[in-house]
Amino acid sequence: MATPQPVDTELTQAAVFLVMTLNSDTSVNAQVRDLLGDLSSLVRAVGFRIPDGRLSCITGIGSGAWDRIFGIPRPRELHPFREIHGVHHAPSTPGDLLFHIRATRMDLCFELATAIVSRLDGAGKVVDEVHGFKYFDARDLLGFVDGTENPSGQAARDSTVIGDEDPDFAGGSYVIIQKYLHDLKKWDAIPTEVQEHIIGRRKVSDIELPDADKPSYAHNVLTTLEENGKQLQIVRDNMPFGEVGKAEFGTYFIGYARAPSRIEQMLENMFVGKPPGNYDRLLDVSTAVTGALFFIPSSDFLDSAPD
Ligand code: HEM
Repeated sequence: MATPQPVDTELTQAAVFLVMTLNSDTSVNAQVRDLLGDLSSLVRAVGFRIPDGRLSCITGIGSGAWDRIFGIPRPRELHPFREIHGVHHAPSTPGDLLFHIRATRMDLCFELATAIVSRLDGAGKVVDEVHGFKYFDARDLLGFVDGTENPSGQAARDSTVIGDEDPDFAGGSYVIIQKYLHDLKKWDAIPTEVQEHIIGRRKVSDIELPDADKPSYAHNVLTTLEENGKQLQIVRDNMPFGEVGKAEFGTYFIGYARAPSRIEQMLENMFVGKPPGNYDRLLDVSTAVTGALFFIPSSDFLDSAPD
């Protein structure tokens, strides 16, 4: 099977999330393919300077960009992010390319992001750039540890890597990103015990609440999916970000899966509610301001991207 991009990379201290849109000019397509084919060597060149920096980059292609860049049949489930109008709103925002750059140090992420954007000079523009950091013991800015129930090892690969269901794109994956902004004043005014019911875990110890104590709207109830007695998992690598001067405090949500439908089902449960109206109370204090879906081709596919 084709080698996947490093979707299940261990969580890192730093990340840069770059979303770009491309110009309509056709010459851009060759420029993008040229970069995609060279990306793994760019990552090697930048990363080799700090060998224990664990630099990695995952590249995603948006639905609108696929046909024009590659001109070959599409991955089966590639489509634009579907906006949700529920109790709360999940907007769909533009994005042709996603670069999810991770390392143990921001200088590595920054250097690679600079190299990528300079290779795409004139081809398009960065429409969203977020620099994420690890906050204490992997907490989000709401103070809860984020990422605990992520699958790891083989379970992570099984939940993220496409297999026989789409043989032409085996080794690929899908990703959904959303940038959330938190109203921390509102959150901090909520008693800790109520916050713990909203998340479904204890705040300090990160221990999961017993099922009998979790409300049906707890975040971890609404995002736990089962099919035929088996849990449908995704791999998340959310990162806090913010700017104190602007009172901006956020979580960059990023979720990988072998089928986008499972992430979409989680979003439906959160924004519309399960049953409808029984929505995720996290959304009373956290507003999604972006939303986009990308296909993550295998590393082999990218390496052989024709010029
Ligand atoms: C679990 C935070 C958005 C899917 C969690 C946990 C926290 C958290 C603190 C518990 C610890 C853990 O297992 O990681 C947040 C924040 C979000 C956000 C702050 C944005 C404001 C989302 C979205 C999805 C999602 C948009 C999916 C569409 C999950 C899943 C779990 C989880 C699958 C694990 C549930 C389990 O198996 O127990 N999240 N999350 N989260 N979240 Fe989120």
